Amino acid sequence: MPTPLNFKQELTACFGQPVAENPTQVMMEAAYRHHGLDWRYLTIEVAPDHLGAAVAGARAMGFRGFNCTIPHKVAVIAHLDGLGESAKVMGAVNCVVRRNEQLIGENTDGKGFVKSLKELIDPTGKRVLMFGAGGAARAIGVEVALAGATHITVVNRSQPRGEELAALLNDKVPAEAVFVPWSGPLDIPEGTDIVINATSIGLFPDVDAELEFNVDSLQSHMVVADVIPNPPRTRLVDAAARRGCRVIDGLGMLVNQGVIGIQFWTGVDPDPGVMRRALEDVFGAAT
Ligand SMILES: NC(=O)c1ccc[n+]([C@@H]2O[C@H](COP(=O)([O-])OP(=O)(O)OC[C@H]3O[C@@H](n4cnc5c(N)ncnc54)[C@H](OP(=O)(O)O)[C@@H]3O)[C@@H](O)[C@H]2O)c1
Repeated sequence: MPTPLNFKQELTACFGQPVAENPTQVMMEAAYRHHGLDWRYLTIEVAPDHLGAAVAGARAMGFRGFNCTIPHKVAVIAHLDGLGESAKVMGAVNCVVRRNEQLIGENTDGKGFVKSLKELIDPTGKRVLMFGAGGAARAIGVEVALAGATHITVVNRSQPRGEELAALLNDKVPAEAVFVPWSGPLDIPEGTDIVINATSIGLFPDVDAELEFNVDSLQSHMVVADVIPNPPRTRLVDAAARRGCRVIDGLGMLVNQGVIGIQFWTGVDPDPGVMRRALEDVFGAAT
């Protein structure tokens, strides 16, 4: 008997606002094509007032899952049936997975970051300095601690947000965390192993914005990571590479969180090289 023709594709998506400049679709659909999966990944603008309706629509249309980006990562929780372990700790979801007809919220941002980090350094027993205390910083702080980092310094412009993240880390994960207010140029302390920019400083179009810290305090044994995916070669990545540090750009985290999302949704282990090359193509291979 011939195989019946099938014109129905499996659906995944990204819900955000603004979302038009989010390049995730490029790498996800490259992976679907590469692995022969008849799946789609749609980039969908969802206003905050319509988030509940969008999630109900995803349920009604049988979406296999969807990513959430700014400003939905916390608000989406109210519309889901349950949370994975780290999403529960962070109180934020960036990846929703349909399991047994339930929508379960996961957080792959920090896991993706740690996957990139482990390609260069084992976080076990390491001291981390992280700029930022927003959603990305929360996810990264929790996962680097779960991966074995023992000390995390949170540097943030807004004091309440920085203090809240340090308290969450001290309370919920096995790492010691301190908050340092960011009120001017700062020296990276001796003994730091990993420096992370988890702020939005340097994101397109403000590509010339610089982190306020003393670049001369970077030492060549430090691993320096930036979460900014666009452009991948930020001023921080450039300065750290010039000082002999090993660097991780924001495409590493983006690709790896996408790899984990595809694993969750499809059960297939996608090729990260295919996904990264698809992104490099759209960013003009400027990595
Ligand atoms: N590569 C990836 O896969 C990936 C994944 C997720 C996010 N990201 C990137 O991560 C970045 C942060 O996202 P998010 O969700 O954490 O955003 P968020 O929750 O809005 O947090 C933004 C953070 O940046 C800080 N910040 C922004 N402008 C600043 C400035 N001019 N001076 C000092 N601090 C400043 C904020 O400090 P205050 O608390 O003082 O406002 C806060 O700590 C975004 O650029 C996003 O593109 C990348």
